Amino acid sequence: MKSMKRIFLFLVTALSLVLILSACNTENTNSIGENNETDNNGEEVSNGDNEVSEENEASSEPIVVGFSQIGAESGWRTAETQSIKDTLENDPQFELKFSDAQQKQENQIKALRSFIAQQVDIIALAPVVESGWETVLKEAKEADIPVILLDRRIKVEDESLYTSFIGSDFILEGENAAKELINLIGEDVETNIVELQGTVGASAANDRMEGFANIIDENDNYNIIKSQTGDFTRSKGKEVMEAFLKSDGENIDAVYAHNDDMALGAIQAIEEYGLKPGEDIKIVSVDGIKDIFEAVIAGKSNIIVECNPLLGPQLAQAAKDLMEGKEIERWIKTEESVFVGAEAAEAALPDRKY
Ligand code: AHR
Repeated sequence: MKSMKRIFLFLVTALSLVLILSACNTENTNSIGENNETDNNGEEVSNGDNEVSEENEASSEPIVVGFSQIGAESGWRTAETQSIKDTLENDPQFELKFSDAQQKQENQIKALRSFIAQQVDIIALAPVVESGWETVLKEAKEADIPVILLDRRIKVEDESLYTSFIGSDFILEGENAAKELINLIGEDVETNIVELQGTVGASAANDRMEGFANIIDENDNYNIIKSQTGDFTRSKGKEVMEAFLKSDGENIDAVYAHNDDMALGAIQAIEEYGLKPGEDIKIVSVDGIKDIFEAVIAGKSNIIVECNPLLGPQLAQAAKDLMEGKEIERWIKTEESVFVGAEAAEAALPDRKY
């Protein structure tokens, strides 16, 4: 009797175990396949729901942007760097890899190669000069990494080597500088101009020179008597202006500086020479940093042609659009103004962001 009871107990336990195991198995099958369908062969295929959740996971990963910056030669450039850092570093959708080339193209090429090796999603490049980019940009293209040019342009035969350019019309800036200078002085007044060029080979220098000459060449009273690079820096601008004053002193009526920093250096040189900048020698420069607004308010400079360095938001938008597979514009332009005289500078100064 005892052995019958044991056999009965064993059978009940075994049956319960079988029931529990099969119930577990049914649950597992439902949780894996509840959103999926089967194909003609009865094999389970994804209906996309699982992929969407994987995609969501992927899209929560930040967009990695490698930014190769030229350096910190001017107040304008520092403002540009700050704008990009402020925008991308404070947005969890981005991860920024920043590299400062200290004015050297070879450092920029190295930085680009490092971004390619790290498989960043997007490369942003502020190119120090226009030429010499083909090889490295081909490498980026082969790695399927879109390149966005910031503020300066490049010259390449194959235009598909970059996706877009975000920045200003430098030729127009040069033309505006010349037009405003002629308006200020008068088109019938004989005027000798000295020009402080930006970095040799930079699109910002080449185009600003071209635009200015376009207008000046139309007026026989206006002559560019000297033109030399001041490398976009305050110290070189001062040095070159000192040399101009030494050779041409009293003959100089106006300075055209490709950026504010060189104009500020020139102002110092003119004062040390014993003349009054803004009065004896009129000054027009490009950028629009706060220091030049103060100089114009003080009567030491005359015309500011604005060039906007706050490109962070436009870069962020372009990067997001590209990652979403949207087409972006070939040239994403920036909005800019011109300020002439102390009154205009005074009104604008409180709102200046750089
Ligand atoms: O490329 C823009 C120019 O580069 C700015 O005018 C100048 O200040 C800068 O260094």
